[in-house]
Order: sequence, then C-alpha cells, then structure tokens
Amino acid sequence: MEYYIAPSLLSADFGRLDDEVRAAEKAGADLLHVDVMDGRFVPNITIGPSVVAAIRKAATAPLDVHLMILEPERYVDDFAKAGADILTVHAEATPHLQRVVARIRELGKKAGVALNPSTSLSAVEWVLTDVDMVLLMSVNPGFGGQAFLPSSLGKIELLRSQLTRAGLDVDIQVDGGIKADNVGEVAAAGANVIVSGSGIFGTSDYGKTIALMKQNIRKTVGKTGGAKA
Ligand code: DX5
Ligand code: ZN
Repeated sequence: MEYYIAPSLLSADFGRLDDEVRAAEKAGADLLHVDVMDGRFVPNITIGPSVVAAIRKAATAPLDVHLMILEPERYVDDFAKAGADILTVHAEATPHLQRVVARIRELGKKAGVALNPSTSLSAVEWVLTDVDMVLLMSVNPGFGGQAFLPSSLGKIELLRSQLTRAGLDVDIQVDGGIKADNVGEVAAAGANVIVSGSGIFGTSDYGKTIALMKQNIRKTVGKTGGAKA
C-alpha cells in the first residue's frame, strides 16, 4: 500500500500562502489538502475557486480539494477549472451523490466522497465503484486543531475490510486531529492518505515533522502487517 501525507493549508499562514505551499512541498508533502467551506454545510467560511487557482500557480504537488459545501454539484466544474486534481464532496451535502462523483470523473479529476464522524459507511456503499477515495472525517468538519475522535479507528478498519472484500483499490483518507504521535495507528487501521493541518503547520520544522510521520507509519504498519483485511 502507498501512503501519502497531505498537509492541510487551513493551518498555514494565509498571508504567505505561496511561501507556505513551497515550504510544505520542500518538507515532503505528497499532496496539498485545500479546505473549502461555505458557512452553511459547516460553521466556517474559507476560500473559493480563485484562491485555489492561486495555490495551483504556486504548487507542483497535486491539489486535494475538500469541498465542505452544500450542493457541491453547483461548483465542481469551477474547482476543476481552478486546478484541483482530486475533488472530494460530502455524502451529506447532496441528494445526488452518484451524479456528482460521475461528473468529477467526467471532468478528468479524481473523485472522493467524504463522511462526517456520525455518518454510517452505508452512505457510500453504492458509489464505491465510482470513486478513487473515501474521506473519513475524524473530527466534525469546520475547524483545524480539534481532537481526533477515537471511534474513527473502528470505522477505518471496517471500511478497509469492506473494500478488500469487494476487491476495490480505493484510497482511505482520514482528516482531523492527526499528528506524528497518532498517525501510526490511523495507518495501521487501514488509512493510506493522511491529512494533517495543525500537526504540521503548528510545528517549527515541517520537514522534520513529515519525516517523523512517515517513519511512524512505516514502524506501525511494519509491525501490524499493514492495513487489516
Ligand atoms: C477540518 C478540515 C481539516 C483541518 C484539519 O474541517 O477538513 O482538513 O484542516 O486540521 P487538523 O489536522 O489541525 O485537525
Ligand atoms: Zn479537510
């Protein structure tokens, strides 16, 4: 299994976004996680397509755009045009989930579907063959710096076992409260795309932190034999 570290720019210094993007890439970021919030689906407002386009100009790594917005079908074309490589929509935010993930793929982008902590895995059961990634939120979305919800681990394990049983090669991304000290157990449970905001941008040496995260993943996954099936 390939593991990816995706620093969440939500915890970066927005006044120096170019520098922060370059610093994260130099530090070993595999993807750049971009959080889009509408003040409706989640109680916070962040950025829109024009800022994503600006990040695209500064970045070389793929942009992993997490849409925390109602009716994402109204905006996926705009974010694709702005330069997103992966577009993730919330199952709770649209009545036509299959249609929107199909549209994302039609736009030539990777499609992800996200679930809030209280949403059951059954919400994505019938779109698993239509997506490249499932994002399991390990905090209630809206803000960086919240504590990891331990119930997420069982959910990750269950989804990985369902995917393995179905023979599906789908990435499991986990987002919220992940730091160098708990990244190992998240990976051992079966996640392979790790988002971390304050866990990286809140430290003084991003490179050292990402290296430590990768080391902790290797250590734990090595011991447990990797994602459980
Ligand atoms: C939360 C966002 C996350 C956030 C994670 O709603 O989706 O991507 O930036 O931040 P940390 O890693 O600080 O919990
Ligand atoms: Zn996110």
